[in-house]
Amino acid sequence: MSSFLILWLVCRFLQSTHGLTIPARGDERQRDIDIGERGNQAFFNPDSYILSSDFEITSVPSTREYWFDIGTTTANPDGYTRQIYTVNGQFPGPLIEVNQGDTLVVHVQNNLGTPQAIHWHGLFQNGSSYMDGVPGITQCPIPPGGSFTYEFPITNEGGTYWWHSHYSNDLQEGIYGPLIVHDTQDPLKRGQDYDEDRVVLVGDWWHDRTQVIVDGLISSAGYRGTVASPEPDTLLINGVGEANCSSSLYPSGASCNPPTRPEISLLASKRVRLRFINTASHSHLRVSIDNHELNVVEADSTAVWGPTIHELPISEAQRYSVIIDTNKGKAGDKFWLRVNQATACQATASPQWALGVITYSNEQGQAGTGGNNGTWPNTKSWPDLGGSDQPCRDLDESYSLYPRIAKDAYEQTFLTHSFSSQFGVWTLFNGQQLTGFAINNVSYQNLINDPILEIVEREGNFDRNYVSTVTVWEDGFLDVIINNLDAIDHPFHVHGNDFQVVKRGAGNATAEQVKEMDIRVSNPLRRDTIWIPGLSYTVLRIRTDNPGVWTLHCHIGWHLAQGKLGAIIVRPQDIQNNAARPSSWSNLCAGQDKNAVGPNRRTVISPRFPFWSFDTLNHIKHQVLRRTGYAD
Ligand code: C2O
Repeated sequence: MSSFLILWLVCRFLQSTHGLTIPARGDERQRDIDIGERGNQAFFNPDSYILSSDFEITSVPSTREYWFDIGTTTANPDGYTRQIYTVNGQFPGPLIEVNQGDTLVVHVQNNLGTPQAIHWHGLFQNGSSYMDGVPGITQCPIPPGGSFTYEFPITNEGGTYWWHSHYSNDLQEGIYGPLIVHDTQDPLKRGQDYDEDRVVLVGDWWHDRTQVIVDGLISSAGYRGTVASPEPDTLLINGVGEANCSSSLYPSGASCNPPTRPEISLLASKRVRLRFINTASHSHLRVSIDNHELNVVEADSTAVWGPTIHELPISEAQRYSVIIDTNKGKAGDKFWLRVNQATACQATASPQWALGVITYSNEQGQAGTGGNNGTWPNTKSWPDLGGSDQPCRDLDESYSLYPRIAKDAYEQTFLTHSFSSQFGVWTLFNGQQLTGFAINNVSYQNLINDPILEIVEREGNFDRNYVSTVTVWEDGFLDVIINNLDAIDHPFHVHGNDFQVVKRGAGNATAEQVKEMDIRVSNPLRRDTIWIPGLSYTVLRIRTDNPGVWTLHCHIGWHLAQGKLGAIIVRPQDIQNNAARPSSWSNLCAGQDKNAVGPNRRTVISPRFPFWSFDTLNHIKHQVLRRTGYAD
């Protein structure tokens, strides 16, 4: 085949899947729906993510105890009925709400037929690395039918976090929920900055089970014929979405019964804090509310002075709080909440969206007539919402976000380490080949019953070749460079820390180069999850005051399943000196096969490539992105 023909085919492919035309926004695709025909979602309680002013915010510590029963049920989150996972019968899972200084205790009962583990995204686990919930890194998984109690102090955190499964990509099945830490010293205060406080989860959804997708991605056949991560079938707001039942992608013959659109009832004439959490496995999302400006006041768990905007970009695992004024109408008025998939960073034939309804109510909580009882909003979207060609970017790439508790960049780093991440064909430690992702040329394999934390305790060091790590021995400051060597953007998360974002740049950078660079010294943004555009790097400054094994990975769950994970091992000597783990922790490993690899690596064979190579695709995509304002 001539190279010209290949080029033409690739361009056709990009045109058909990359969405070079403006995609339909939510309201344009809105169908006439007979509300009476919509099923009712029994699995999510819309009141459960309202933060009550009755919760006492205090510095007097207490123990907060939760019981999580993980199980399955049949449900139709977007109209398509399938098995899902639930926690205490809920989808998404329950809200955890604590004060700084509290001890959090969560008794997890795993009623699934597969192992499980729960991670507390963004919490530092200072002194309790073994409670971080990453099987193969900080614990052995909770076996099917087994239970485990997570117990750890919330020492120095405050803000919006979430919890989720860290076993395979099982969070995608429904094992996730919000985790809010109040703090008497939080510069953001109810009564002063806002009157009402809510959590809104936004995410993506597939009609296939996670295990089917993961097995496909690491198999020779790929999933849906490719090793590229799949596009979602729908988006969800608080677990509710709306499948396009007439799409050719909708499973033929399956019933389609979308639940009632999620309605968020807000008192009129108030300032409302909305804490958005992106729980998606593969979607950079854009959130807007018709007629309402969004004043950004929190990024991940850092209170910030941020911009007032019409549309909020939020990448996988990030959180943002915005404050809105509900002074745009009267009780009974309704407005669309729109969640759109950003498509410039995702090759998608069919951009997804979700709609929610913001309904004003009066002090008696009466919404008047309308909404899900009658009419839908008739509001129009802001005219300046991002189109399909607008690059996916973190908010701090377009605006300055200043932490309200100002801290300048830590000085005097003692170590600069780079993690370079790339797609390709990799030889795994056992000699097999895998097409997927690697960090510093190592595609992660999970020896799930031999957690790295325990190896460090046993051996005082970690020296294995199935995961890329850096070990730091001192209490001080570390610069982590993440080089994204692909043209594809990735959201990276570092466990156990909030890092200072001291530098972003095009291309890649070595430790030597970074040491010579001007970094952002004055009050850099602190967060725990960062969007790194394709072919660019970022420098994250971390204080190594927290001994433990801290995972660093892409939060696209499918990429994680394809090996995109490394780790920072902080102060092995202090890990050894502080092995204060309960015997229940060790019992999870007892009798398990230490050489077992799982769960992401069962069939390790070289997948089939499309006839054009991934590099070619990357190259072409890069050209397209450049033309559309890609920072280069
Ligand atoms: Cu949200 Cu490794 O985690």
